[in-house]
Amino acid sequence: MDYDIKDEGLAAKGKLRIEWADNQMPVLKTIRERFEKEKPLKGVKISACLHVTTETANLMRTLKAGGADAVLCASNPLSTQDDVAASLVKDFEIPVFAIKGEDNKTYYQHINSALDHKPVITMDDGADLISTLHSERKDQAQMIIGGTEETTTGVIRLKSMEEKKVLLFPVIAVNEANTKHLFDNRYGTGQSTIDGILRATNILMAGSTVVVSGYGWCGRGVATRARGMGANVIILEISPLRALEAVMDGYRVMTSIEAAKVGDIFITVTGDIHVLRKEHFEVMKDGTIIANSGHFNVEIDIPDLEKLSKERRTIRDFVEEFKLEDGRRINLLAEGRLVNLSSAEGHPASVMDMSFANQALSAEFLFKEGKNFEKKVYVVPKEIDEEIARLKLSSMGVNIDRLTDEQEKYLSSWEMGT
Ligand code: ADE
Repeated sequence: MDYDIKDEGLAAKGKLRIEWADNQMPVLKTIRERFEKEKPLKGVKISACLHVTTETANLMRTLKAGGADAVLCASNPLSTQDDVAASLVKDFEIPVFAIKGEDNKTYYQHINSALDHKPVITMDDGADLISTLHSERKDQAQMIIGGTEETTTGVIRLKSMEEKKVLLFPVIAVNEANTKHLFDNRYGTGQSTIDGILRATNILMAGSTVVVSGYGWCGRGVATRARGMGANVIILEISPLRALEAVMDGYRVMTSIEAAKVGDIFITVTGDIHVLRKEHFEVMKDGTIIANSGHFNVEIDIPDLEKLSKERRTIRDFVEEFKLEDGRRINLLAEGRLVNLSSAEGHPASVMDMSFANQALSAEFLFKEGKNFEKKVYVVPKEIDEEIARLKLSSMGVNIDRLTDEQEKYLSSWEMGT
């Protein structure tokens, strides 16, 4: 078996952590048990480019239980959990190409190793696998039934490919499922981003001013959790609608340059480039902490920060202190990469349970139906989305009411008024 990981000796620790996460992934477990019996993915070659975490390990086990011949590479150079990679290889015999801290060249070598597997289904988190295939290995596209995409950033890239008519096979946008973005993006990013910042810095949130850039589902989650810990939260938005919503949710909303002068901790979750740049660094307070939780490391303009600095040093794991010409210090977390996956463990298993249930069921759906699809970005079928919500509720022991016949009739009629 071909693979590239840091240290096989870490497998025992990884296996226990995978088991711990599995205990909090009942929906995925239910799917895995069915997959074991039915083998809906028998012999299907899958190449997955995902964050190599305990939760992803349980997804890979599920695909394998369904009969898939699956391999995994990292979707970010800094998010790999090396013990998990080791256990996947040693205990579950699933090839992994991922090492935490790998440089860009190795990162793309690993993506190419996953593509060497000659997949018929691709699975992405950020669209780097698909994008590499479309730019360097186009000839492989004809054997691919379709792909899945986990995150907002990836879906944006894929929609742009669809619009430009360069997308070579259909892709299911897992991120668009309600059981994905309403939970993973909001509660997952909300909790894990704060977790990453706290593990890296051990700062007190209460009484601090936290500036959250972007009020999408991720930004909302981060803002809620920061406020819950006693921080004064400022929201930055470019959409008038979202900005208004943030105002009515009780946050202060202002421009980035105004916020730059008063914030203690900045968190970018916009998906766009250079959200924090020279003009902001020039007015930030001494000791300011800056972190990113968006998919790519582009939201903070690090070259700008480097140019303004006379010295830099690693002051704690995942904290780099930049000393500016005038003596002010700005602390950059996790090299501007996803702070939640770099200095913490990513979203908790209980929320990834739903995201990865969507991945597993979308792969099954693609294998069954994908041959009839066009070269477009598709949403997860409503039946899959609702089934996952039902299974999750049931695993939590929560029962809900059904409409009575009278209520159902009322909703489908127009005659009855006051
Ligand atoms: N994305 C965010 N959190 C994650 C996790 N725990 N595992 C895989 N992908 C993630």
